[in-house]
Amino acid sequence: MKSNISSSFPPTAVIIPAAGTGSRMGGDRPKQFLDLCGRPLLVRTCRQFLTLEAITSIVIVAHPDHELETKEMLFTHLPQHIHHKLLFAQGGARRQDSVHAGLHLLPAAIEIVLVHDAARPFVDEDTIARTMDGARTHGAVIAAVPVKDTLKKVIADTCIITTTVDRSDLWQAQTPQAADKQLLLSAFANASATDFQGTDEASLLEHLGVEVQVVLGNEENVKITHPGDLQLAEKLLAHEKIMKIGHGYDAHRLVKDRKLILGGVEIPYHLGLDGHSDADVVCHALTDAVLGAMGAGDIGRHFPDSDAQYKNISSIFLLEQVIEKAQQAGLQLANADITIVCQQPKLAGYLNDMQQNLAGGCAVSPQAVNIKATTTEKMGFTGRGEGISAHAVVLMGSTYNGY
Ligand code: CTP
Ligand code: MG
Repeated sequence: MKSNISSSFPPTAVIIPAAGTGSRMGGDRPKQFLDLCGRPLLVRTCRQFLTLEAITSIVIVAHPDHELETKEMLFTHLPQHIHHKLLFAQGGARRQDSVHAGLHLLPAAIEIVLVHDAARPFVDEDTIARTMDGARTHGAVIAAVPVKDTLKKVIADTCIITTTVDRSDLWQAQTPQAADKQLLLSAFANASATDFQGTDEASLLEHLGVEVQVVLGNEENVKITHPGDLQLAEKLLAHEKIMKIGHGYDAHRLVKDRKLILGGVEIPYHLGLDGHSDADVVCHALTDAVLGAMGAGDIGRHFPDSDAQYKNISSIFLLEQVIEKAQQAGLQLANADITIVCQQPKLAGYLNDMQQNLAGGCAVSPQAVNIKATTTEKMGFTGRGEGISAHAVVLMGSTYNGY
């Protein structure tokens, strides 16, 4: 079917209603912002529409309270070369109102319109292509799957079965729902004029008397609705998971008149580590390990010590910057293991605070960061108390392969 969607296909837009509050999912923020294995749900949904050239506009309908956040998220996570395709509308109280708002923004050249729930990130390209092709040849279609299970009608309060329903002509509606633009505009105008309410575009088209056909959707094209759906989503994404390992090492000399800062904790000692920044070897080793996992060189490349702005800067801040870059590249810390090599002072009493600081800097729980300290039995430069060094190993997890 994909082959039918050539470059000569009529200009097509997709409207993605993403203005719901996700009340059944619960949580602080609507479900479209939920992290799904390293990538926000709405970003995943939008990405499914990026490779089809005929889709020239992607209209995102956001809740007015989250419009800015939605824009920022998509501009950050979607490749720059498609930013010009993105249009933003403000949603309304019902899904129908949100889609209606999106319709008003469609560029004049658009001939075919797809509507796809933000909450269905697993739509596949073949299903999208089938709905596009169906809209062109038939006028209006929706993705749907035949009902598989035996259906029972029950008495609501007792749950006693009254009938077994014949399922042979029953289909479960999904999105995309696709139609000729003029047909869809008429259906929405008619729904407004007759005060008709429908939970999908097909209902509005049916209400206008338009014949709407089903085309085959995909069993995996589920709508993320309840918390349990997130576990299902993780399972569906398991095959995408990639892991990256990184190693970092740093050593600094102990000198007079400097503070001793390790893992963001100031430790009382008559000597401190010498360096351009705060010389926090623990942070530096960890930051280098993260950069290593990203394949992005080392700390010196990103924060050169020739640059005055990094003089005496807190190394936790540098760590945070690098972690943010990693997150933008789709990588997040799975765990870190750090060894500090230090003869004096004794560090055992400070390790918990370091763990908290580093976990905070990496935006992970403290359990993901292990820190230990060792002496070298007075051998070598650390053993003689000339300096302190640190080693870090990290595992970074990602659920996709980047752009
Ligand atoms: N939607 C919308 N505007 C609304 C209501 C829903 O744009 N006023 C969008 C949702 O963001 C979602 C899609 O329509 O992408 C399908 O709706 P649903 O799964 O019901 O999402 P919510 O309405 O957010 O969830 P709930 O019904 O649990 O509150
Ligand atoms: Mg809803």
